[in-house]
Amino acid sequence: MSQGLTIDEQASLSDLNTLAVAAQARYLVAIASERHLREALNWAADRKLDTLVLGGGSNLVFAGDYDGLVLHMAIRGRSWEQVSGDDAVLILGAGENWHDAVIYAARSGYRGIENLALIPGTAGAAPVQNIGAYGVELGDTLISVTALDRSTMGSVTLTAADCEFGYRDSLFKRHPGRYIILEIRLGLSRSRPLKLGYRDLQDYLGNTDTASLTPLDVAEAVMAVRRRKLPDPAVLPNVGSFFKNPVVDAGLYERLHAQCPDLVSYPAEQGVKLAAAWLIDQAGWKGFRSARVGIHNRQALVLINHSGGTGEDVLALADEVRQSVQDKFGVELEMEPGIVG
Ligand code: EPU
Repeated sequence: MSQGLTIDEQASLSDLNTLAVAAQARYLVAIASERHLREALNWAADRKLDTLVLGGGSNLVFAGDYDGLVLHMAIRGRSWEQVSGDDAVLILGAGENWHDAVIYAARSGYRGIENLALIPGTAGAAPVQNIGAYGVELGDTLISVTALDRSTMGSVTLTAADCEFGYRDSLFKRHPGRYIILEIRLGLSRSRPLKLGYRDLQDYLGNTDTASLTPLDVAEAVMAVRRRKLPDPAVLPNVGSFFKNPVVDAGLYERLHAQCPDLVSYPAEQGVKLAAAWLIDQAGWKGFRSARVGIHNRQALVLINHSGGTGEDVLALADEVRQSVQDKFGVELEMEPGIVG
């Protein structure tokens, strides 16, 4: 054991992943500060152990045990800086719960992240996959990220441009393991326009007088819309969307659209983006259930661990889904969560 660090051996990860699959870490440590992080990395390096950074465990699948040191990010802290006129910067420690931070900002009257309510996970994980929902992505408000750059062991500040955000994509995904996020800064405002254009949100709001809506009203509307379709991981363990919405070329899109006129699609930078949920639904998977795992009955993009499924059970089902969408539509689905072990 190192000074100031409590390192558990053969620790269960079941409660640290929202799919609730059973897995063990050879070593597990909670990281409450940058100093802790440096000590833990040195401890692992002395023993030639691999390390895994874990936030809320809501975007990964443990396919087996982890034979190294799991760094459970618990750096707390919420503060405001540069409050001027209607604008302010919200600083969040990497271990802050994302949804709680959204509600905190909305209650304070600041706009910018209210559409991202109820997304599971931590603030430090949010930039990694550039979380997005209901017409808003993290990259729309993120000003900068402070991270430990493991290639130099120095602390770096990366601007939003440095983060190279894309759809469910970022610099952090392209350089796995290089940066460990310590803190994020978000540029919020009391007066920026609310984003109410996403269809489900519009349908929910109906004839509401949108001029009088507060960011908290919008966060609550998003929560209600999500609860209608997306399962609560505490009740039905899941990692949200299991696949990204695929982008296909114009030729394939035309052929599919001719076959299926109700194909759901959106314009994309290089081709046409299709709704993976629609493809999986049309392939007959919605509500499917095997002994331990299944597909949600209200959103075909979500895989569920019903009763004691392993990561391998979940990945085997994902493979079957991917294969059947490939066979039926000729479209390749790419997994959204990472696989560990
Ligand atoms: N649809 C179906 N069958 C289904 C579900 C949806 O046909 O079972 C159709 C819907 O009718 C709609 C289309 O598919 O026309 C898209 O569905 P939805 O609006 O629910 O959005 P999505 O593309 O499936 C994405 C994100 C979600 C995010 C929602 C809302 C991805 C991979 N997923 O889902 O993100 O909450 O939009 O913005 O981009 C997550 O990343 O974990 C996540 C839940």
